Amino acid sequence: MKFHVLTLFPEMIEQTLGTSITGRAISQNIIELSTVQIRDFSKEKHYKVDDYPYGGGAGMLMQAQVVSDAVAHAKASIPENQSTRVIYVTPQGEPFTQKKAIELSGADDLVFLCGHYEGIDERVLEEEVTDYISIGDYVLTGGELASLVMIDAISRLVPGVLHNEVSADTESFHRGLLEYPQYSRPEVWHEKEVPKVLLSGNIREIEQWKLEQSIERTRTRRPDLYEAYERQQKAMEMLLKDKLLHIDMIEQLNRGIGEVVAMDEANILIWNFHVNIYYHTCFDVTKAESFMQGLPEKHKKQLQNLVLHQEELLPLFQSTFGMKLLMPCYQMVYTQKEQIPVKGLYQADGKELPGKVVIRTLDDSFFDVVASTYHTVDSPEYIHERLNSGEVFGAFVDGQITGFCGYHDDGSIGMLEVLPEYRGRKIGKALEVYVLNHARRRGFIPYGQVVPGNEISTALQKSIGLYQSKSPIYWMGIDEN
Ligand code: ADE
Repeated sequence: MKFHVLTLFPEMIEQTLGTSITGRAISQNIIELSTVQIRDFSKEKHYKVDDYPYGGGAGMLMQAQVVSDAVAHAKASIPENQSTRVIYVTPQGEPFTQKKAIELSGADDLVFLCGHYEGIDERVLEEEVTDYISIGDYVLTGGELASLVMIDAISRLVPGVLHNEVSADTESFHRGLLEYPQYSRPEVWHEKEVPKVLLSGNIREIEQWKLEQSIERTRTRRPDLYEAYERQQKAMEMLLKDKLLHIDMIEQLNRGIGEVVAMDEANILIWNFHVNIYYHTCFDVTKAESFMQGLPEKHKKQLQNLVLHQEELLPLFQSTFGMKLLMPCYQMVYTQKEQIPVKGLYQADGKELPGKVVIRTLDDSFFDVVASTYHTVDSPEYIHERLNSGEVFGAFVDGQITGFCGYHDDGSIGMLEVLPEYRGRKIGKALEVYVLNHARRRGFIPYGQVVPGNEISTALQKSIGLYQSKSPIYWMGIDEN
């Protein structure tokens, strides 16, 4: 992740981000920072960058050409295939939230444009800016502090920036709830005791207490967040009526990667904001059309990939909403809590012994073997992205890769392939079991999807103890024709 900051005060950005956790991440090349002095692009005497607004009004405006040249300079350093966003920090933007931080942390390059004076000529903003963002309903003297706040919040989501991996997802705003109160030594301070349950050693009771405290704190301090939480709970109740069919939607909510963007008594629409996938289910198909027509414009515009859960709705989504069927799939779900025994499948301790299977996380250096063996749908970019995510695992025998399996970007388990010369040696089962256990340890309900007719995969999964949904789900995409 590279941050480019266009500013009149580069030293303010460099000094702040150069300290503490972001400073360490920059020196370890986990994140990169490049500042651009906007003044360097002025062609005027004394490097002037501002002028009076047409039509009068208070203060001065930054001129279009200077800003445009500074943005062009930053963009010229970004390779073409990188995903880039140009952010103008302004009190007139959309509010910056943890969700927005998560969304932006998925980009390769973020360009921050810091305004000063009364603002920037509208014409250059129209040409360059992809996102207008505000950090709150107050006015700062310039965009630098706002950019710093955002860069700090985004950086800590980049893998490797925080050393303590757990803290990035258990802290405030996890599942949309505020964090529970915490206590350290001494046990009694100013006659106040640490809640007894935290000293009990009973993990289940402690987890239950933390959740209750989070809910209560959210209800009293942030009624707006609490309302969204309640809505999610209501949706979950409805989805659990058919757990196998809805496992993808349930897990989007459980894992905090999806939000309920719309629901009524018959429909639920969930949006995975990381990968921009929508999931729809319906308990009364006569009510789907008006529900979809009533969606907020933002979601109508963004809707490109959708997972449908009712076959009866295919014609509606095809004819009225211009989508095409990409793939039907059955859900395969591992519903037990226990880890699956691995004896005879792979070395649980990871020790390499002659002829034995060990499983390790793959990185992008395995791109060639994965891309040439894995033939289902996906693009080279997707395979690179998955390998770089650390969520694809390889089975090795005597140092040779024999197969792989991992998580798709929506959290489902898949990408299972065994190289032809190693088939019939239970390597597929070993890989599948490894990833299922991995998912259980993360607190997920492991699930995958198989296309109808893939009897080998279905039989393998059933033999491990996964259950199949009664009816399929339908992956849909916008029909470009
Ligand atoms: N620039 C000035 N005030 C700001 C704010 N509240 N958010 C983002 N950028 C700003």
